[in-house]
Amino acid sequence: MDHIIQIKDKRFTISIPEAAILREVDRVAQELERDLADKNPLFLSVLNGSFMFTADLMKRLPFPCELSFVRLASYQGTSSSGSVKEVIGLNENIKGRTVVIVEDIVDTGLTMQRLLETLSALHPQEIHIATLLLKPDKLMADLNIEYVAMRIPNDFIVGYGLDYDGLGRNYKDIYTVID
Ligand code: IMP
Ligand code: MG
Repeated sequence: MDHIIQIKDKRFTISIPEAAILREVDRVAQELERDLADKNPLFLSVLNGSFMFTADLMKRLPFPCELSFVRLASYQGTSSSGSVKEVIGLNENIKGRTVVIVEDIVDTGLTMQRLLETLSALHPQEIHIATLLLKPDKLMADLNIEYVAMRIPNDFIVGYGLDYDGLGRNYKDIYTVID
């Protein structure tokens, strides 16, 4: 196990080993089972970052549930409004469903806010949020995030699905930037 990795111009060191991650994923899975076991929830995993968390989480859910994947695509608006994020890939009818958004990390929360707006317009019965990581100090949006595996300081991290410029998603541990 390499404790230090280099990705492009940055060095990172292990901050959360896989075993510690999986302990918290276990706990979140138990909380979801406690709350949603009889609701046939539809999990909506937000690609790309949450693919590893989603896999480990789903393996730990011993009740009827469904899984689908969405992606937030940035596109340049035709007006001067700049970059807008659009939700793509949602093929399920979520009307009346119990939906659980599965995210890798909530930082400012603006991405999550955008996603909630889009999904709410489709009239699900309820929407819950499950995130692997939360950076509480950066949170700007007023969000009710019920399921959080880990709260972390305001440092940039990679690994376990999260990337730096497309790289680093493949590491099983979470690494924090050193310099
Ligand atoms: P937010 O809209 O500020 O909450 O940003 C959320 C998105 O930013 C996440 O889905 C990630 O793609 C990305 N992000 C935020 N912090 C980090 C980090 O520390 N490492 C890698 N990606 C991050
Ligand atoms: Mg993400």
